[in-house]
Amino acid sequence: MSKILIVGACGQLGTELTIKLRELKGNDNIIATDLREPVSLIADGPFEKLDILDKTQFHILLKKYEIKEVYHLAAVLSAKGEQDPQFAWHLNMESLMTILEAGREMLQKIYWPSSIAVFGPSTPNQNTQQDTVMDPNTVYGISKLAGERWCEYYHKKYGVDVRSLRYPGLIGYRALPGGGTTDYAVDIFHKAITGDSFECFLSENTILPMMYMDDAVKATIDLMETPAENVKVRSSYNVAAMSFSPSQITEEIQKYYPDFITTYSPDFRQKIAESWPASIDDTVARTDWGWKNDFNLTKMVDTMLRHLKREMVFD
Ligand code: NAD
Ligand code: SER
Repeated sequence: MSKILIVGACGQLGTELTIKLRELKGNDNIIATDLREPVSLIADGPFEKLDILDKTQFHILLKKYEIKEVYHLAAVLSAKGEQDPQFAWHLNMESLMTILEAGREMLQKIYWPSSIAVFGPSTPNQNTQQDTVMDPNTVYGISKLAGERWCEYYHKKYGVDVRSLRYPGLIGYRALPGGGTTDYAVDIFHKAITGDSFECFLSENTILPMMYMDDAVKATIDLMETPAENVKVRSSYNVAAMSFSPSQITEEIQKYYPDFITTYSPDFRQKIAESWPASIDDTVARTDWGWKNDFNLTKMVDTMLRHLKREMVFD
């Protein structure tokens, strides 16, 4: 089996994707890499320290392991990106260009995630279509939109088999999020299970599209396993699962923790959230390669609380 290299494997998504890919394809076939040191789950298989901005080291690893597929997950996300826009642009774009160029030379397949952040204030807010107005106003969103255009360009011009999904906010229990506008929807669970109240940085009625991590991992692997001729969108596919506001997720958590309360103190992330759609139309992904989510809000909350409680018992 050809080997897969994951860039940014220690992040929120990378942790879960690495574990799943190792389960499916064998530990030794998945080479996890990251700027930071791995925690135990990732360290259980092959791991290499890699700054993806170091092209030489990246190429050394491609050769060393005879890599044929790369999942490129390293990025600066929406909220963190606004703290240092120049660096966010530099990392998000340089790293993608390095990997797309490697795609021309030696890789068979590349996965690179986009985001609902490609949409902006003029995008229709409800059931946002695959092809619509895109006017992102964060550096993160601008880099994702530019990245989508580059992916399609490399596919059309050079035949690079690069595939992509526009994830909504991702919610999982294994790793904490790394600086996005949807992070509150993970943080809230950690407060609930420790008996604390939660101060939310978005206002109570701000509805955003979200997805439970198992669905995100399934969508990613399904897309990568789809025969190339069925992957008709080479920019990035809309995918959706659920939409909710901070007050709606609070109500769902209160079914398990009736005394749990959320207070609201919106900050700069509120404006970012308001520029994104409330819900996504993912008909094209469902038609082209059979995408279907398994988790809605109720099932996601139940699953998150069960896993986090179990982890607390073992701590
Ligand atoms: P994250 O911030 O949790 O993880 C990113 C990882 O990349 C981190 O482990 C970090 O150490 C690593 N990294 C940073 N700079 C690096 C460098 N120079 N070289 C190597 N590694 C480096 O992010 P995530 O939430 O896991 O997101 C993964 C991808 O999915 C990103 O492209 C992100 O834009 C996209 N995405 C995530 C979400 C979400 O809600 N988490 C939603 C939409 C899209
Ligand atoms: N969850 C991500 C963020 O908030 C969306 O790409 O930045």
